[in-house]
Amino acid sequence: MTKQPPLRSARAARAAGTLRRKLRAWEQRLMPPPAAMLEMITAGILTQAISVAAELGVADQLADGPRSAAHLAKNLHVSEDGLTRMLRTLAARGIFRQDAHGRYELTALGQTLRCDTPASMRAMARLFGSPEHREHWSHLLEAVRTGQPQVEKVRGMDAWSYAGANAAYGAVFNDAMTSMSNLAKAAITAAYDFTPFHTIVDVGGGHGSLLAAILARTPAARGVLYDLPAVVAGAGEPLRREKVDSRCSIEAGSFFDQVPAGGDAYILKGIIHSWTDEQVRQILGNVRAAIKPHGRLLLIGLIVPPGNTAHMSKMFDLEMLLMVGGRERTGPEHRQLLAGAGFELTAVTRTASPMCIVEAKPV
Ligand SMILES: C[S@@+](CC[C@H](N)C(=O)[O-])C[C@H]1O[C@@H](n2cnc3c(N)ncnc32)[C@H](O)[C@@H]1O
Repeated sequence: MTKQPPLRSARAARAAGTLRRKLRAWEQRLMPPPAAMLEMITAGILTQAISVAAELGVADQLADGPRSAAHLAKNLHVSEDGLTRMLRTLAARGIFRQDAHGRYELTALGQTLRCDTPASMRAMARLFGSPEHREHWSHLLEAVRTGQPQVEKVRGMDAWSYAGANAAYGAVFNDAMTSMSNLAKAAITAAYDFTPFHTIVDVGGGHGSLLAAILARTPAARGVLYDLPAVVAGAGEPLRREKVDSRCSIEAGSFFDQVPAGGDAYILKGIIHSWTDEQVRQILGNVRAAIKPHGRLLLIGLIVPPGNTAHMSKMFDLEMLLMVGGRERTGPEHRQLLAGAGFELTAVTRTASPMCIVEAKPV
């Protein structure tokens, strides 16, 4: 396992984001509009090439140092010509570079495609290039026409059931969700003090990666990991790795029926954006019924900024529309949803990742 890169402060991350947006706008102005447009239109080629590199495990092959394309092609059982053309494309985008002998090696960007880096993006790359995901995206036109999600129409079942029913795709999907949690968890635990809580319930907590990191920093707290039966069946490894499994119970169920009672912190990370306002009110209503009177609800996710600022939330909003019929929400939309479920928004904490922590108390 490679070392965790140092964490920037939320303020430094915000300043870097503003600078990047300015540079991007400046770069676009330097290009003739058709050329700038063509670059955006063909961005999917880059996504697919990254995904193929991730699928093949090219970055893992380069973990110990530079290798020639011939060596890689032999080890990976692929065409040397095909691989060389893909590596050339990705090296042009700074993912690989060539040494003086023409051998390929990893850049800092390329390191993120290894499977064993702390914030590996390999699973996300595999998910976004998977035939299933690509097929879903081919239905965006219909999602925009109707304002309705399309996975259910295409698959005959909703996105969660599809991930559960298709083992290979489900494994890629769950790994991708874990990698998103890994990306954000250091930023979340650095930005928010969880030590005042005695019982921390992670609702829809997946395999427990975030809860494990939080419990590792709160030695006096107990945890409850709650998710669907098929998901918790494979959960627990992150809790054991952090040596917090003895302080954490795992419960199976649906947050539309109930959530475990008696917690004084309820975390919902990456949950509410998957659901309609009505469904979110139902989930939050169940948390409201279960939470202790002095407890805190923590919604962790993206917040759509006002105006036309470039922000990851706007991309993921389309993903939510297409896949599940949910949405990314603005600050005022969060406040309104919370109020409708008997909560008052008390604070919004930015983190060094794009994620924010929206804190609310029961009223
Ligand atoms: C996008 S993932 C987020 C997982 C985790 N909180 C994280 O941030 O990595 C959504 C999670 O909600 C869970 N989920 C979906 N429907 C659920 C339900 N009805 N009850 C409980 N969990 C559910 C999924 O199994 C999945 O683990």
